[in-house]
Amino acid sequence: MTNPGNFNPEIHSTDFRKPFEAYRVGRNELVPIDGRKMESLNGKWHFLADPLEYMLRGSWYKEEKYDEAGREKPQDYDFDSYPKMKVPSCWNMERSDLFYYESMGDYIRNFRYVKHSDDERVFLHFEGAAYRTYVFLNGKPVGMHDGGSTPFTVEITDAVAEQNRLIVAVDGSRSDTRVPMSNTDWFFYSGIYRDVYVIRTGRTVIKDWFVRLVPDTDFSEIALDFEADGLNEGTAVLRVPELGIEKDVNVKEGKGSIVLKASPELWSPENPKLYDVELSYDGDTVKDRIGFREFKVVGNDIYLNGKKRFMKGICLHEDDIKMGKCTTEASIREAIRVVKEELHGVFIRLAHYPHTRLFAKIADEMGIMLWEEIPVYWAIAFDNASTYKDAENQLGELIRRDHNRASVVIWSVGNENADTDARFRFMSSLADFAHSQDNTRAVGAACLVNEVDERIEDRLADSLDIIGINEYYGWYNPDFSKLGRVLRNSAPSKPVIITEVGAGARAGNHGTSDMLWTEEFQEEFYRKQVAEIGSCSFIKGVSPWILYDFRAERRFNSYQEGFNRKGLIDSDRKTKKLAFAVLASFYETKE
Ligand code: GCU
Repeated sequence: MTNPGNFNPEIHSTDFRKPFEAYRVGRNELVPIDGRKMESLNGKWHFLADPLEYMLRGSWYKEEKYDEAGREKPQDYDFDSYPKMKVPSCWNMERSDLFYYESMGDYIRNFRYVKHSDDERVFLHFEGAAYRTYVFLNGKPVGMHDGGSTPFTVEITDAVAEQNRLIVAVDGSRSDTRVPMSNTDWFFYSGIYRDVYVIRTGRTVIKDWFVRLVPDTDFSEIALDFEADGLNEGTAVLRVPELGIEKDVNVKEGKGSIVLKASPELWSPENPKLYDVELSYDGDTVKDRIGFREFKVVGNDIYLNGKKRFMKGICLHEDDIKMGKCTTEASIREAIRVVKEELHGVFIRLAHYPHTRLFAKIADEMGIMLWEEIPVYWAIAFDNASTYKDAENQLGELIRRDHNRASVVIWSVGNENADTDARFRFMSSLADFAHSQDNTRAVGAACLVNEVDERIEDRLADSLDIIGINEYYGWYNPDFSKLGRVLRNSAPSKPVIITEVGAGARAGNHGTSDMLWTEEFQEEFYRKQVAEIGSCSFIKGVSPWILYDFRAERRFNSYQEGFNRKGLIDSDRKTKKLAFAVLASFYETKE
């Protein structure tokens, strides 16, 4: 196609995003931040809503103010004049004109960098930006990442200068080939909504490290596997002072492994014992507080440290009425406190995507077990190869981020996905991938019920350790008696956790237990549900839907008003509904 000449060539470009694919980063580029001294780039950045994606389409990131002949160009942008946006934040919550904005947002800031040593390497690390992120430094693309809930790292050693111009374009749009796809029952917050850091290392950077109790060794062995990029051969040192461990680890081809005899005090919700662990190699050091425990499935039962456990849980979205998908330490601590102390729970299903890394860190400390999940939710493009790569990469990033977290006991590869051959291949491959990365956790998913023959039936279960079942008999399906028939018709060979069960109620809305949306209806619903669930021998846990009401774009009747109201607590995170006490008393007595 020849260009009319007097227009900017980019206005005719239809594949303007393609060149940036070359800068894609994923789990292999991810740098662990545990215990590192990092420099924060959080703060107020210039921001522009850019629905036509001109940062890319028009190569605005080059900031070319003059043409080849040195004439000033009439550029359409002027970054330093733009209003500021808080990083981290969800732009939906920062500006009312951006509440439903789901396209591209351009973030711009400067930063100064002075090398501390000749062999210094430097990285930009993002804890989370939704959904696709393009990173530009000093007029050049340096990184691109897909996935709205997992961290990513971009090495900028060769692109960084003393004075730097950093531009981050975040595409928050929905797409049927993304993970999740365009239809979700949770609000689509977007932006750079988690921390941004500069990381400095020497010539060698520890890229991944995994420390854990070795399963099936009578709790007597711990193992370390790690990878480093830089010095390929050498000696690393693993230290666990409280266990008297200071051990050299041989490194070959950038990898090191060791298994050691040790008898650590075991981590559990009742005794969340953590140990200071440090790994150093060729000038790089990572540190973490790590709990040692054994979580496994034997037959139809779930064991923690050799004892059978019933997973008394609840579901939780990362959703706050003021902060959107952002959260705070205080908010996390309060949620875990309510679950432990008031609900008598020991387990939280973090639905339906990786929550902030802070959640599992605090769960380790406070003692609660976690189900963590990637957003392979509903109608994913299961026959699309790049969709699978995206899903597997998000799972890989989640596992690398949290595999040293004792509280995380289950990796979930998805939720409520219609059964097709493509879905079976896609999700069983994800389950196999999770098993290949980590033999210290169970792999689960919210599976399917054969509603015609009224029994639990999902071929995906063959690839899983734990079968999750979401059921709403008595709510979406008004016939509550169907639950009993389904349970009596089923004979699963693995433990089942009821990963969702719930009914909507508006806090403060009262009436008879026959009236939808009343607290009394939800209370009676829970009373019938816990009686049925509690009497089924193959159900080894339940995480009802959901602890707090949460924002959802489709929920617009006069009781919901933009929120999914199945919470046991209102979106104010304070007002409990009557059903809360029903579940709490069930858990208080349930062994
Ligand atoms: C589904 C789904 C949830 C959803 C819930 C509901 O089971 O997994 O994400 O919010 O039902 O309808 O409330």
